[in-house]
Amino acid sequence: MSPVGLDLPAMPNFRAPRGTRDLLPDDRAVFDRLMRTATDLTARYGYRPIETPLFEQAAVFERGIGEVTDVVEKELFRIAPRTEEAEAWALRPEPTAGIVRAYVQHGMQTWPQPVKLTTTGPMFRYDRPQAGRYRQFWQFDVEAIGDPGPAVDAEIIELGHRFYTEVGVTGVEVLVNSIGDPACRPAYIAELVAYYRGFTALLPPTELDRLERNALRLLDSKDPAMVEVNAGAPRITDRLCDACQGHFTSVQAHLAVLGVPFRIEPGLVRGLDYYTRTAFEFYVAGREGQQQALGGGGRYDGLVELLGGRPTPGIGFGLGLDRVALVLAEQGSVAPTDTAPLAVVVGADPEDTAARLRVATILRAAGLRARADLARRKLGRQLEAAGKDGAHFAVIIGDELADGQVQVRDLQAGTQRLVALDDLARELARAEGSHKHG
Ligand code: HAM
Repeated sequence: MSPVGLDLPAMPNFRAPRGTRDLLPDDRAVFDRLMRTATDLTARYGYRPIETPLFEQAAVFERGIGEVTDVVEKELFRIAPRTEEAEAWALRPEPTAGIVRAYVQHGMQTWPQPVKLTTTGPMFRYDRPQAGRYRQFWQFDVEAIGDPGPAVDAEIIELGHRFYTEVGVTGVEVLVNSIGDPACRPAYIAELVAYYRGFTALLPPTELDRLERNALRLLDSKDPAMVEVNAGAPRITDRLCDACQGHFTSVQAHLAVLGVPFRIEPGLVRGLDYYTRTAFEFYVAGREGQQQALGGGGRYDGLVELLGGRPTPGIGFGLGLDRVALVLAEQGSVAPTDTAPLAVVVGADPEDTAARLRVATILRAAGLRARADLARRKLGRQLEAAGKDGAHFAVIIGDELADGQVQVRDLQAGTQRLVALDDLARELARAEGSHKHG
């Protein structure tokens, strides 16, 4: 019989699902810091926060991201419909399609353009899990919808680059490319298909399959067999129409003015189909490769129309916070968080937990970090625990409480004095302030 009186099989050994992680308090503190930087930075650049659902009609992703992409074809977390007529839903693999769906749904075309939106939250991709690649991961995302660029392209890339700088990742480099538009890309893709057909004997089966359906994807194949074939492939940057070339040249000129270190990477094609023209990814220099991308984004001038709106240009990025946290740990720049309370409230009477709780509550209401020792143990043991906590003060409740007073022991200086309960919060706050700034 189990402890709850049911006849259960052997004790279960529950684990977080494969490819997901528990962010324990220390991990979560790092994420908090990343999110605070994202919030602060996007406010400075004029982005407003938006939240869209964690799941959408699957068609939003199928149409928006493209059916012949890994993200939709292999990695979409589809939600089993509850009834036959029910809509097909999927967990969001990325936020851009949902944000653009919201832009169309809420008539944001009538707002002053561009509409600059930002969100941070979990995304879901049923990928093969490994270091830096999870089935639930976090992105910091920005989208500027309604500006054809090219200046905003550089502004967004600079914003992404600044995020890494401000959170303390060093050596981040931007790879940029232009992948053309509907005017010049079809001819390029036809040329690419013809080129790869000359190597069909060398192409791995998955790439052969992709060749007819989405030839652009072969360019960033990670298959070792493709490295040599890809080295000789025609380059999109040599095939851009005048308008795309002019746009790309101007993005680079703007980046140079802003002092963002970038490198042109003609093989960078991105894993989602909505991109036009500018495409970019962020890497720690020397660690290029899909799995190491700290973030990426680009222009999507056809997406609003694809999802039912009027033709509207857009651009944005998504930065992978899990990978940023990993790199911060590798680079040794994770600052420990200070969780020590300012004061621990202890009592001479082991039984009187109410008095301790009441005094701690007064301090908390005044905005101070206070812990009440709620264990029914001797004063000495309570003081010992307060020292281990790293608390600056112990507030000791004894007989003086009847006169509205408590003893305050400075655990760092080793001094002790009587303080009126009415003055306690003010006195501790003042001591904390001079400690911090002195
Ligand atoms: P993405 O390149 O697919 O772009 O993802 C952006 C970033 O999310 C990646 O560079 C990586 O840091 C992180 N990421 C992606 N998949 C995983 C994973 N399985 N585990 C951990 N991190 C991951 C987008 O999602 C586009 N929505 C970006 C964008 C916004 N383009 C325009 N606007």
